[in-house]
Amino acid sequence: MFNDPIARSSRLSVMNFLNEAANRYPTAISFASGRPAESFFSLERWLGAVPVFLDHMARKNGSSVSLAEKRLAQYGPTAGIIEALVAEQLRIDEHIACEPERVVVTAGCQEALSLLIPALCRAPGDVVLARNPTYIGATGVADFAGIEIMPVEPLAGEDWARTLARVAAELRHAGKTPRGLYLTPEFDNPTGTVLNEEQRRSIIAGCVEHRIVVLEDNPYGMFRFEGATTPAMAALDDAGCVVYLATYSKTLCPAVRVGAAVVPKRLFGSASEADRLLAELSERKSFVTVNTSQVTQAIVGGVLLEQQGSLRAMVERPRLHYRRNRDALLSALHLAFGARNGEVSWNRPAGGFFLSLSLPFEFAREQTAACARDHGVIVMPMTFFTLDETHRREVRLAFSNTEESEIEAGVERLARYVDAQTSLVH
Ligand SMILES: Cc1ncc(COP(=O)(O)O)c(C=O)c1O
Repeated sequence: MFNDPIARSSRLSVMNFLNEAANRYPTAISFASGRPAESFFSLERWLGAVPVFLDHMARKNGSSVSLAEKRLAQYGPTAGIIEALVAEQLRIDEHIACEPERVVVTAGCQEALSLLIPALCRAPGDVVLARNPTYIGATGVADFAGIEIMPVEPLAGEDWARTLARVAAELRHAGKTPRGLYLTPEFDNPTGTVLNEEQRRSIIAGCVEHRIVVLEDNPYGMFRFEGATTPAMAALDDAGCVVYLATYSKTLCPAVRVGAAVVPKRLFGSASEADRLLAELSERKSFVTVNTSQVTQAIVGGVLLEQQGSLRAMVERPRLHYRRNRDALLSALHLAFGARNGEVSWNRPAGGFFLSLSLPFEFAREQTAACARDHGVIVMPMTFFTLDETHRREVRLAFSNTEESEIEAGVERLARYVDAQTSLVH
């Protein structure tokens, strides 16, 4: 079912569909795009960090700044030129004990996914697991590579280790092998939810037991609004099964296209297996992007130097902005739907860019278009992110890139659409 070509092409055409909706209804208020807020982009300041990185590079190599500049403009090492700075930031901001030699700098997290998923799933019958719903960038990679992607969610009363054991046994019975588990444990895209520490530890235990590599994607972890921080899975991973995926798309901006994959020192206890995966990652990358743009690595590297290794202070203003938007969205939802006795419900994300809303009727492509056309608001059906036929009454609301002043009006429009639909149904 999950390799069903119609479902596959429908998942792959989602982005076009949304762009078309936004172009066709330009005055619609959009909760569709999970882009970072542009008001915090500071390209001039970030470009100004390039000389800081060049000075650092020159000092490190014992060369002149003009030679460092020439080297920067040249092809570069596949694993990158800012691994030490990335490792330091992950140590400070995420408490991940990370050595620079284990870091491969990638063209965003997306490149890391498109290299790692096929590297892990090489034999026919190799399968990647993911939560359902899940980020479309991961499912898209699997779809294009012809790799089966299987939903994995605990049944009632089941812990994650048992879930993974059950799914691994079912797959083995069907002649298949789970090789990877893709997860966004912190403020998941699309649901906005968090896996707690117990769940993270249980997933690690299950993955170690069944030799499944966790791909821990964490673009939103720096944007926590409240509550205690949960350790990154890579920071809890003593056994060696978590590959951590970092990105600077949300902390700086997507245009840098700089992210990183951190491979543990041992994979399921084996140093040589871990080294093989690390080497394969670089080899594959060398035939895809050769190396991540050294110019944009210099921007990220320069900013990391200026910020003395931690991006926490720099993301404080955007973090508060996203929190204000989240609060505005929660208030608007309460105002519009609070009196509906739970017919419409939603979660309260403690961080990140996304909230999920449950409606009293199914909401798919057709409804997205009608809602944009007739009521001037664009939201994302959760089915765009699902791997099966579930979650048909849910939508994702992104609050990162919508003006606070538009949030209430957008929710009012959505409420009018919901009213119109429910009066048809009743
Ligand atoms: C969960 C998740 N992973 C990865 C990405 C893409 O990251 P990058 O820009 O680093 O490729 C996104 C972007 O929206 C995302 O939501």
